[in-house]
Amino acid sequence: MQVDEIRQAYLDFFQNREHAVIPRANLVPHEDPTTLFTGSGMQPLLPYLLGQPHPKGGRLVNRQPCFRAEDVEEVGDNRHTTFFEMLGNWSLGDYFKSRQLEWFFRFLTEEVGLDPARLSVTVFAGDEDLGIPRDEESAEVWQSLFASVDITAETAYVGSDDDGGDRGIHAGERIFYYDGSKNWWSRVGEPSEMPEGEPGGPDSEVFFDFGTEHDPGYGTYCHPNCDCGRFLEIGNSVFMQYVKRADGFGELPQKNVDFGGGLERIAAAAADNPDVFKIDLIWPVIDALQSISGSRYEDEAESFRVIADHLRSAVFMATDGVTPSNSQQGYVLRRLVRRAVRHGLRIGIDQGVIERLAPVAMEVYQDSYPEIAQRQPEVIQLLQKEEAVFRQTIRKGIKEFDKLVGKAEPSANNTLTGEIIFKLYDTYGFPVELSFEEARKRDITIADDWKSVFEQEMQKQRDRSRTAAKGQFKGGLGGEGDIHRKYHTATHLMYRALREVLGNHVLQHGSNITDERLRFDFSHPDKLAEEEKHRIEELVNERIEKDLKVTSEELPTGEAFDRGAYGAFGDTYGDRVKVYSMDEENGENYSFEICGGPHVERTSELAEGGRRFKIKKEESSSAGVRRIKAVLE
Ligand code: ALA
Repeated sequence: MQVDEIRQAYLDFFQNREHAVIPRANLVPHEDPTTLFTGSGMQPLLPYLLGQPHPKGGRLVNRQPCFRAEDVEEVGDNRHTTFFEMLGNWSLGDYFKSRQLEWFFRFLTEEVGLDPARLSVTVFAGDEDLGIPRDEESAEVWQSLFASVDITAETAYVGSDDDGGDRGIHAGERIFYYDGSKNWWSRVGEPSEMPEGEPGGPDSEVFFDFGTEHDPGYGTYCHPNCDCGRFLEIGNSVFMQYVKRADGFGELPQKNVDFGGGLERIAAAAADNPDVFKIDLIWPVIDALQSISGSRYEDEAESFRVIADHLRSAVFMATDGVTPSNSQQGYVLRRLVRRAVRHGLRIGIDQGVIERLAPVAMEVYQDSYPEIAQRQPEVIQLLQKEEAVFRQTIRKGIKEFDKLVGKAEPSANNTLTGEIIFKLYDTYGFPVELSFEEARKRDITIADDWKSVFEQEMQKQRDRSRTAAKGQFKGGLGGEGDIHRKYHTATHLMYRALREVLGNHVLQHGSNITDERLRFDFSHPDKLAEEEKHRIEELVNERIEKDLKVTSEELPTGEAFDRGAYGAFGDTYGDRVKVYSMDEENGENYSFEICGGPHVERTSELAEGGRRFKIKKEESSSAGVRRIKAVLE
């Protein structure tokens, strides 16, 4: 089966079982400022899992592009990726364990055609301290599902992550109990990690057995959660029925199912090949890499995999409005592109990584994600620019390297010290790894204490920048004059109006105010239509006329976000933030936004002298980011 077919079969399967297909969310979770990226299909559904009714009902299905930054360092083996598509289905207070497990089992064995004899499953072993019993119900469901295909499945206790596998798998065993470090899911991991208000629950994972030989480097015995690569997790059914409370675990108002399956991994299982990079969504990139570099995948698997994975992540991120920068999502994107370029150097590609490979990475999503094709030209341009800047950095760094270290015969002068490595890194952005490579090429000694010296320098630098940051004007918009105040308030009104008119994907990317105008950058894929601009102006002017009252309060940052405050994309916040509200007379809250101020006291001040809010210009600022200039005139 082609991967496109598996994806479609999954959506069809659940649609035929009364699930509504819901659109995918942006890779940047605009509604959830607590994480940088959408890393699972459930993130956008949080309010519904907590009990709010979903407009499409209690059965949902979709496929969600996901990015997990925490896996960046893991990429290189045959199965870890930072980017993947999660197949997700949800029951919001509808079906529960038996249906969920049966449906996923039938999907895998009857639709995808996996041999049930190659499947093993894990279930929650229970936790006495939390008062949550072991999940015998799921174990029994699994037993009967295997029995339905004439497989006798014994259960066994494997334990915690650390002592797991100390007995190995005995013949006939297929259902394994693990504790909360493995068979419990919440956005932050095991129960003890969960903050108040976080939902979670026991889960049941399905593993495909490739039958490869156990690698004792990973432990004496093999078992489903062993990392040697024999078993691959392909799907996880979370029985989300608990929420963390101050005094322990409470029941959610409804019992939910949150299922997530890895499309690429299911495809690898279907192909019976443990290397996910060989599936048809990724292989074209590897193949193109082979012909461009002249190196072979088998010989340089790690670099090939890093490049292929990072390119996939980068094109999806850029399509979703992220631009390379030095903070937050933009920084992650920058790192991905630069790592890809660096690994390209290792396998002999010294130019055109993006230009030649990004189109290949995008091509496979023509049908499944039309937005990828639509935005291809700007995405490639954006990423290419980042590659060019980085190559420039590398060239400059090498030049400085030669100056600082000296090219002469070995002498005290040409040792690569921690100070030099730091200077190259800090002043020229030259990656530490490349300093090493240059030293190797030139046969230059690396100082033994380079690391501690590098860290000392880094600390000094941090102290310097902290001092500098203290002197900066808080709020970042500068100027306390009267008209500034008005533009500041107008910016909040417009932000809210943009989201009303264009949708909740709109997120602030930047703001700048002068005496003449406000300027506002925000994520949005398309040029605004005349009617849209008009509607935004109307909404802002209406709110000005309504004479909303503007108030501010200082809140702990977490609480501000919990209460739905808007923040700006790419900003980092301290422990406490100032939040401005604009409220209607009836007490209804119109705008609730983190901001340093200053603002007017009532919105009617914006209309003084007969002024009206007007959009003067709307243009592209960078890929996926639009810029508006507006005035009060
Ligand atoms: N949300 C669950 C996961 O990510 C399904 O594994």
